[in-house]
Amino acid sequence: MATDLLTSDESCFFREARHFDHLRSVLMARKAGGAAFRAWSAACSTGEESYSIAMVSADLLPPQAWEVLASDVCARALDTARNAHYPMARAAHMPPDYVRRFCLKGTDVEDGTLRVSRVLRECMEFAQINLNGARLPALGRFDVIFLRNVLSSFDGETRRRVVQRVLAYLRPGGHLYIGHAESLHDMGLPLRTVAPAIYRKE
Ligand SMILES: C[S@@+](CC[C@H](N)C(=O)[O-])C[C@H]1O[C@@H](n2cnc3c(N)ncnc32)[C@H](O)[C@@H]1O
Repeated sequence: MATDLLTSDESCFFREARHFDHLRSVLMARKAGGAAFRAWSAACSTGEESYSIAMVSADLLPPQAWEVLASDVCARALDTARNAHYPMARAAHMPPDYVRRFCLKGTDVEDGTLRVSRVLRECMEFAQINLNGARLPALGRFDVIFLRNVLSSFDGETRRRVVQRVLAYLRPGGHLYIGHAESLHDMGLPLRTVAPAIYRKE
């Protein structure tokens, strides 16, 4: 599936692959020990982005050394995310090694599909969160936040407010990822651009 042909609420594994290369470099730079690495996939849709983060984390960190929170406003999308059962075409950009290690291929009537393995699913947390709701819940601080391909749902002032409140959950030095077609230009946020659509919180 060509990632730029996705419709507004669709997703796929390893969409905008350079973000996952950057995530790898962040994880490889971490020192052993210390607190668990925490990632928030803040508009996760049907979960492909969240599982892509989980696969990279499971590849580079020991079990229990990482957590992924996957949230979306849409309950139906979250049900699909929890179920973790996808058409194989959504994994066109998944490294073949990850398909072998982290996915079960469907057989018989499920031919042409994959299910993310239980080991990985059990390391995820799912929550229904409206980024533009009255109040965001207490979630703690994250090392990375993926806020990708959702900002275009909001008008200018709402977009700034949503990014600002999400940023409160990012630890200083942590990274924010937005969609490549999105922009944080002129928002006056405490962020430094490190690569296209990747920002570091001051
Ligand atoms: C195109 S999908 C993005 C999925 C994934 N982040 C990606 O880049 O592939 C946009 C998602 O934003 C969600 N969304 C829209 N408004 C939202 C809001 N106010 N709070 C949380 N999620 C929202 C939609 O439900 C949809 O699942």
